[in-house]
Amino acid sequence: MNIIKVMDYAEMSDYACDFLMNKMENLQKPVLGLATGSTPEGLYHRLIEKKVSFRNVVTFNLDEYVGLDRKNPNSYYYYMNDKLFNHVDIEMDKVHVPNGSATNLEKECHDYEEAIREAGQIDVQVLGIGVNGHIGFNEPGTAFTSRTHIVELDVSTRQANSRFFDSMEEVPTKAITMGIDSIMDSKEILLLISGHSKAHAVARLLEGEINEDFPASVLRRHKNVTIVVDEAAMSEVKENK
Ligand code: GLP
Repeated sequence: MNIIKVMDYAEMSDYACDFLMNKMENLQKPVLGLATGSTPEGLYHRLIEKKVSFRNVVTFNLDEYVGLDRKNPNSYYYYMNDKLFNHVDIEMDKVHVPNGSATNLEKECHDYEEAIREAGQIDVQVLGIGVNGHIGFNEPGTAFTSRTHIVELDVSTRQANSRFFDSMEEVPTKAITMGIDSIMDSKEILLLISGHSKAHAVARLLEGEINEDFPASVLRRHKNVTIVVDEAAMSEVKENK
């Protein structure tokens, strides 16, 4: 794993933007895996500011809540439009976000995998990490062999994400997410981590065992991962002290 230590959130976002721009420039038809949450917002903001062209870009988002309509401001579909797609020249038929309000969710999972396969491999997958080590919405205990599937969200994840909702009760209990194996199929992974709340997760990621109790640990088995991590998030890593 290539670990890039940066000072803070702004520097992490700058680095991520340059990294992604460089990859996109060198690909005819980039297939990007995208994430939501607070972490990649700065990256998306910079891509918009720099007027990066998304004309030939195909995107696949990692996950979506089950039961939220796409018009719901807390849905990840809405987030992606709001934070990125509405402000760049992407063709919306090249955008893929799992549909959490599909009537047949199993079929939706299957079709999503199929769509990724048809687009070829994901060239660069942008990732954040949950405080419990989740990637996408793959909670602790998820099989490393998992593909796109429906998950029951951890209480800790719902609590962490409740900041976006009016109350904890409104946070969905289920989500649809690309599986660990689907994520590991990406040619390259860009993991962004910022802030004290992630310090424990970073220490566990870099110094703990690789096992399903901590989903992100699997990334140590991937041959092309870049982690951009700021000082606050690095603060519990022993080697760093
Ligand atoms: C959310 C998302 C993940 C995201 C993570 C961290 O639950 N499903 O894709 O990476 O949690 O979010 P944040 O960047 O807001 O800390």
